[in-house]
Amino acid sequence: MSTSIYEGLVDMISLLFSLFTSAVAARDTFYPPLNHTTFITNTSLGTYGGIYSAPADQASSPSADDVYNYCSMPHPRLETYSLPLPIVNGSTSGRLVYLEYLQRHQRRTPYNILPGGENQAYNCNNLQPFLYAAPTSQNPSPLHVYAQSYSDPTNPFLATYVNGSCQYPQLTVGGFLDGYQHGRDLRAVYLYKLHLIPSDPAEESGRKVWLRSSSSALTQESAGGVLRGLWPEYQGSLPLHQQAASVDTVDQGFSCSARSDLLSAIESTPVWKEHLTVTASLRNQLADMFDANTSSWMSTFDHFADNFQARLCNGYSLPCSLKDESRCATQQQADEVFRAGDWEWNYWWRHNANATRYIQLVEGLFIGEVVQHLEAVAKGTSTLVYSHSFVHDGDLGPVLGALGIKALRWPGMGSNLAFEIWETADSEHYARVLYSGRAIETIHGTLDWVPLSSLLAILRPFVPEDIVSMCSAA
Ligand SMILES: *[C@@H]1O[C@H](CO)[C@@H](O)[C@H](O)[C@H]1NC(C)=O
Ligand SMILES: *[C@@H]1O[C@H](CO)[C@@H](O)[C@H](O)[C@H]1NC(C)=O
Ligand SMILES: *[C@@H]1O[C@H](CO)[C@@H](O)[C@H](O)[C@H]1NC(C)=O
Ligand SMILES: *[C@@H]1O[C@H](CO)[C@@H](O)[C@H](O)[C@H]1NC(C)=O
Ligand SMILES: *[C@@H]1O[C@H](CO)[C@@H](O)[C@H](O)[C@H]1NC(C)=O
Ligand SMILES: *[C@@H]1O[C@H](CO)[C@@H](O)[C@H](O)[C@H]1NC(C)=O
Repeated sequence: MSTSIYEGLVDMISLLFSLFTSAVAARDTFYPPLNHTTFITNTSLGTYGGIYSAPADQASSPSADDVYNYCSMPHPRLETYSLPLPIVNGSTSGRLVYLEYLQRHQRRTPYNILPGGENQAYNCNNLQPFLYAAPTSQNPSPLHVYAQSYSDPTNPFLATYVNGSCQYPQLTVGGFLDGYQHGRDLRAVYLYKLHLIPSDPAEESGRKVWLRSSSSALTQESAGGVLRGLWPEYQGSLPLHQQAASVDTVDQGFSCSARSDLLSAIESTPVWKEHLTVTASLRNQLADMFDANTSSWMSTFDHFADNFQARLCNGYSLPCSLKDESRCATQQQADEVFRAGDWEWNYWWRHNANATRYIQLVEGLFIGEVVQHLEAVAKGTSTLVYSHSFVHDGDLGPVLGALGIKALRWPGMGSNLAFEIWETADSEHYARVLYSGRAIETIHGTLDWVPLSSLLAILRPFVPEDIVSMCSAA
């Protein structure tokens, strides 16, 4: 009797759960109600229709309707790509003349190892991260050495670190394969269907390509996979443009004291404190389990989220305490950590009162570079047809904030923005901005087909006039 009541309850709960999850339409998984802390604490929200798992040694499969997938975000692909409506319905004719593409690197090992140590090893023996230098003349050409990370059992620090054969972070083989598929899909859409990207990346004609990355190994490693998918037959090597790390305009390269001052202010508001208060019990349980009661683990959800995501996105389980292996992080705790992470990203780049200034300080110079590319297209002076930048979540976030995205979940692995510029028969330029393969929904409306001048007007306020003095201002 009590069993059947119990089973009835379980059935009802799972029915309610499936009603809720099926009620989250695929596009809604990108736009949760992130502007209130009930998003974090409402456990019935689960992952809000998002995916947080991926196979260890294979490419991720796309979900049927391309929902938010932290481990392998959707991207433009032939199966789901649709042309702009005014082109489809014949109200105008036009062609794609320029693509500005930004993406986060693909999935990887974590940045943050649990302070008490990890109960599972990470295996990276199935990937060879090469690093060698060659004279431009190729003479003599170097031996192709790669890093083979290993754990030496006599190293006494290993006991409270992580066992295995990886660097932290580094691309995983799953991340490489996701990148390769990402590139193949871009090839199908932008090379074969829309004839924009040249089939030879080194082509000297008018259709030039610009490839850029941050100076981190992760973004370069991702580029190798993605670009092989894009140009499978190409035999040579290719330059990946980078600025010097200490002044880089991506990945917070240049130093800027005003940036950290403003972040402290943003993280001192009553709303920020409220999200810490409502999560105090969760943070204390995790801190206790993983010896993580330090400000870097307790003041934001960045570290726990990063640690859990890296495990789940590469075929591993959530971690257990090294002191007591029967105490493990639960899926429910992980879901709440991820919801809190999403809330924080929305707060940093959209919801806090100083978001515009914060975006200017972090990403304003890079947004300025994008604006210059788009202005050249508008003036007809662009020498490029395609620019692809391999960057970080910390770059995608502020650009999405500048676009005024309706709600900002943490931009997952391989998350991407495609700024498509179309030229109509009467030589007008229109822009369409795809976020992870779909026209982005913003406070300015869906950026599906807007005059290029309107897109530029949205972005320009985020380009600082004098970043050097802004950064040094007290
Ligand atoms: C939160 O966002 C929703 C739409 O996503 C909006 O209707 C509501 O007014 C917002 N609330 C606050 C407090 O900004
Ligand atoms: C929690 O989320 C569910 C599903 O959206 C909603 O029905 C419920 O009202 C929410 N509860 C609170 C306290 O916000
Ligand atoms: C085509 O779609 C555009 C954009 O929605 C709309 O403004 C236009 O009226 C449509 N034209 C036709 C012929 O349906
Ligand atoms: C690390 O893994 C190796 C191989 O599985 C094992 O022999 C060794 O005991 C492990 N070391 C630690 C510190 O867990
Ligand atoms: C974490 O440290 C603070 C002060 O350093 C202490 O008040 C708190 O109880 C600690 N929490 C846990 C879970 O150990
Ligand atoms: C941050 O926003 C608040 C409220 O709008 C404002 O009073 C304050 O001057 C801003 N701080 C900075 C550094 O822009």
